[in-house]
Amino acid sequence: MEHPLAHTPATERPKILVTHRLFEEPRAKLAEYFDAEFWADSDRPQRSEVMRRVADKDGLICLLTEKIDDELLAAAPRLRIVANVAVGFDNIDLEACARRKVAVTNTPGVLDETTADFAWTLLMAVARRLIEGDAMARSGAWRGWNLDQLCGADVWGKTLGIIGFGRIGRAVARRAGGFGMRVLYNDQARAPREIEDELRAEYAGRDELLRQADFVSLHVPLLADTHGLMGPRELALMKPSAFLINTSRGPVVQEAALVAALEKKQIAGAALDVFEREPQISHGLLRPNVVLAPHLASASVETRTRMAMMAVDNIVAFFAGQRPTNLVNAAV
Ligand code: GLV
Repeated sequence: MEHPLAHTPATERPKILVTHRLFEEPRAKLAEYFDAEFWADSDRPQRSEVMRRVADKDGLICLLTEKIDDELLAAAPRLRIVANVAVGFDNIDLEACARRKVAVTNTPGVLDETTADFAWTLLMAVARRLIEGDAMARSGAWRGWNLDQLCGADVWGKTLGIIGFGRIGRAVARRAGGFGMRVLYNDQARAPREIEDELRAEYAGRDELLRQADFVSLHVPLLADTHGLMGPRELALMKPSAFLINTSRGPVVQEAALVAALEKKQIAGAALDVFEREPQISHGLLRPNVVLAPHLASASVETRTRMAMMAVDNIVAFFAGQRPTNLVNAAV
């Protein structure tokens, strides 16, 4: 079916603000039907800048760095849809969007495998001290092979504890088979038996998982009841030899409690892609047994292109009068 906007003169097309650079393919598709304005700097725009630019727009394509709240919506009276280029949408006040009848979409499904790859990248890097080794190799400090040099922890044969057993948590579990690991998982509900069998994953209560796992990997969305989920009590339950991996959202871990647990050697280390106050990182996390990444889990060219394309497809469908595939607030 031809898109209803295909023959609309350029001046009458819906106006879309894109708060970031886009890849070529999604950019071209957007340009076919819309009057699109892009933020082209590599630095993120100030909030005041987004508010100013969105004032006359009908649609918004944004990142998780933009807080979409009532104040911003009030500054955008024409706005009808917000397409978040992320699977998580904790940056968006859904109630405010519903009140103002603004549709919200996200990008689920296309980033699961890439994010799972990255959780494993972090896990391996922290367990095998890759970043310390890289620093030694490139600084010239390496004086030759030594028996006890930068010895880390084995990964194979250990126990992996996955908290949040949705699409990404399951993709992380699937990879553990190759390492001969035991997989424990925790979520609000048990996964179907076939999934447990296929992934050789055992359900465990959260405390039990924390007590047993050598690696704890977080894959929950940020919600009221996952906010601060890993606090002093939970970290104290972990083994002193265990590592915490976080590719979910920063506020799922109480960062101050994590720093304290690392200082007290309650856990062996951490590998983090997300932080409580991005892009700030607590000073206490800058230690050799913590691997730090700047929120990169979905950052492959292929996956980021798919995410951008999905956001554009949602906008295209919406302005064609169809229900966008990834509508988050169905009531709107
Ligand atoms: C990234 O963090 C996402 O939610 O897609």
